[in-house]
Amino acid sequence: MWLLDVLHTIFSLYSKLADCSTRMRSIVSFYFCYLLCLCLGIACVVFVSIWNSQWRGGFAWDGSALQFNWHPVLMVTGLVVLYGNGAVLYRIPLTWGQNKLPWKLLHAGVMLLALLCSILGLCAVFDFHHTNSTPNLYSLHSWIGICTTALFTTQWVMGLAGFLLPCSPMSFRKLLKPAHVWMGGCILILSIVSCISGINEKLFFALKGTTNGTVPYGNLPPEALVANSLGVLIVAFGLVVLKILSNQKWQRPEPRSEDLGYSPLLQDDS
Ligand code: HEM
Repeated sequence: MWLLDVLHTIFSLYSKLADCSTRMRSIVSFYFCYLLCLCLGIACVVFVSIWNSQWRGGFAWDGSALQFNWHPVLMVTGLVVLYGNGAVLYRIPLTWGQNKLPWKLLHAGVMLLALLCSILGLCAVFDFHHTNSTPNLYSLHSWIGICTTALFTTQWVMGLAGFLLPCSPMSFRKLLKPAHVWMGGCILILSIVSCISGINEKLFFALKGTTNGTVPYGNLPPEALVANSLGVLIVAFGLVVLKILSNQKWQRPEPRSEDLGYSPLLQDDS
């Protein structure tokens, strides 16, 4: 009989150890992806800034081409890098054991900053077009871009109303959450599509070769190399963020139903 007890203890110890090592491996691989996400995000901001300061003449807010240069910098920083980092905040295992409310506020704050950057980025290009009597919203890039920003604005307002206002009913939060998560991924994909199409359009406009004294895009001058690499970095950043968002094991654990019944922080766990 005692032999059975010993075997049972050894077996349960072994399964606990195996469970622990699987969890450790999952956490280590999360932090690897998260570090990659941070590095790629920084690289995107560095590349878009270098491109526009070194090859496009720098920045100003005077209706000139230098004002346009704010557009790519603010769109990449806001709708890609800040947005992507805001989206993965809840997945950081370090935050799981803590009250969700401060992380909710940080998530909403980072997304608000992303939204403000993108609105300012749109103001830069609309104002530049207005000053130079260029028509608005004629390109595929501008159509996708304006829809992306409109969806992001709607998503932010719905998120605020659904998850942060204390008066929003629990049933509404439950209904909203899957739609919010799905729409969040869609907005990131659309932002990346907008950036790729914008970079391509700008390179075709700027690197005409004979007509404006630049080396043609077809000869792959250093500017094109940097801007193409920016596109590759943006795609890689997006793929890492989507990988983090889609891994079930990296989702913040839901509170157990028996805890929910007694939790005074019920409002914070949606
Ligand atoms: C999420 C990112 C982006 C969004 C949402 C976006 C959105 C827009 C919108 C709505 C316009 C039209 C403005 C108007 O009609 O007056 C526009 C114009 C433009 N954007 Fe972007 N953009 C993004 C990123 C970029 C990037 C990274 C570049 C790279 C340089 C870029 C290049 C351009 C160019 C060249 C125009 C002027 C020509 C046109 O209207 O298509 N965009 N963008």
